[in-house]
Amino acid sequence: MVGEKRIGILTSGGDCAGLNAVIRASVYRAAGFGWTVVGLKEGTMGLLSRPLRYEVLRPEMFNGNILRLGGTILGTTNKGNPFHFPMADGSHKDRSEEIIGGCRELGLEALIVIGGDGSLEILRKLAQQGGLNIVGIPKTIDNDVGLTESSVGFDTAVTVATEALDRLQPTAASHARVMVLEVMGRDAGHIALYAGIAGGADVILIPEVPYSIEGIAGKIDRVRKMGRNFALVVVSEAVKTLGGTVMQKEYHGGEKRFGGIGDYLSERIASATGAESRVTVLGHVQRGSSPSWRDRLLATTFGVHAVDLIAEGKFDRMVAWSNRQVVDVPLDKAIAHYQAVELDGSLLKTARGLGIYIGDETTD
Ligand code: F6P
Repeated sequence: MVGEKRIGILTSGGDCAGLNAVIRASVYRAAGFGWTVVGLKEGTMGLLSRPLRYEVLRPEMFNGNILRLGGTILGTTNKGNPFHFPMADGSHKDRSEEIIGGCRELGLEALIVIGGDGSLEILRKLAQQGGLNIVGIPKTIDNDVGLTESSVGFDTAVTVATEALDRLQPTAASHARVMVLEVMGRDAGHIALYAGIAGGADVILIPEVPYSIEGIAGKIDRVRKMGRNFALVVVSEAVKTLGGTVMQKEYHGGEKRFGGIGDYLSERIASATGAESRVTVLGHVQRGSSPSWRDRLLATTFGVHAVDLIAEGKFDRMVAWSNRQVVDVPLDKAIAHYQAVELDGSLLKTARGLGIYIGDETTD
C-alpha cells in the first residue's frame, strides 16, 4: 500500500510524557513513504467540530524540541464519549456518525490512535461502525493496557514518583516522620509498586492487595526496632478505605477522580503508631515532564511500527512491547485484557523479599 496516502493521528485520554515523540516518529516515517499526516485536535473533539479541527503535520515543522516535549501538541480529552456525548442541555447523544463523517471528509485512509484502554475501545467501536482502518498505540502512565509490557508515559511517571521518594526521605529522616506519598495509576498499582521498590519505601499499598492498619503499624514498629526513625509509605490512589470505600474528589462540573486515600491513611497510621505523619499527593506532576529516555525510545519505536503496519495494510492492531522487541497484537484482545499487577509477579515477590509491607498476604 505504498503511494499517495493521507493518514490521521490523534491523542486521546489523559496526556502523558512521550506523546509528542510518537507523533514525531509517525510523521517522519510517513514522510519516508511520501504520505501526508493529518493531526486531529483534542482527540475525537476535533472530528466533532465543524469546521473540522486539524493540522497537516510535516517533519520540517518540528523544531528539534518535540522529542523532549511533555504533553501533546495535538491536545487531548478524557471526556465526551461520542456514543454518549454530554450535551449542553444535560441530555446525552450518540455523535459517532459525526466523527466517522469527519474522517471521510478528510479522506483519511487510516487513523493512528494513541490512547489508553478506554480510548482504544471507543475508537475501535467507531472504526467497526464506520469501516475505518485504525492502528492503536498504547499510552498511559497507569500501564494497564493488556498485551504490552509497557505503555508510553509509564516509565516517566515512575521516574517522577521515585524522585519524589528521594526528596521525601531526607526530610522524613530529619523530622522522624512517616511520609505518605499518594500516586496515580487508577485501578492498577504499577506506579506505586515500581516507584516504591526503586525509592526504598517501607510500605507499598496497591488496589490489588488488601491491607490492614495493624500490618502497616507492625512494619513501622520493625523499622523503629532496627534503629530507623522514619518510614516511607507509597499508596495508589485507588486503594480503598478499610470499609471498602473508594476515596474520590468531585470537581466542578461533577467529574469525579480518585483522591484522598493518602490523608485517610496518614491519620490512621499516626494514631496507630504515635508517629508524626505528612502526606504528599503527587498528582499530575507524574504526567507533565519531559519523557525519560525509555519513553522516548518506546514512543519512537511504536510510532514507526504503526506506520509500517499501515503500509502493510494491517489494521485493527495495536503496537506493543514484548521481549525487547516491538510487536503488534489484535486490538480487541489488548482491550479485553486489563493488565493489573500480577499477584505472582516478580516485583511483588521482590517487595516481599525485601520485607516491604505490601498487604496482608505478605509473609513479612
Ligand atoms: O489515566 C491516567 C490518569 O492520570 C490516572 O492515573 C488518574 O486517575 C487520572 O488520569 C486523572 O485524570 P484527570 O487528568 O482527568 O484528572
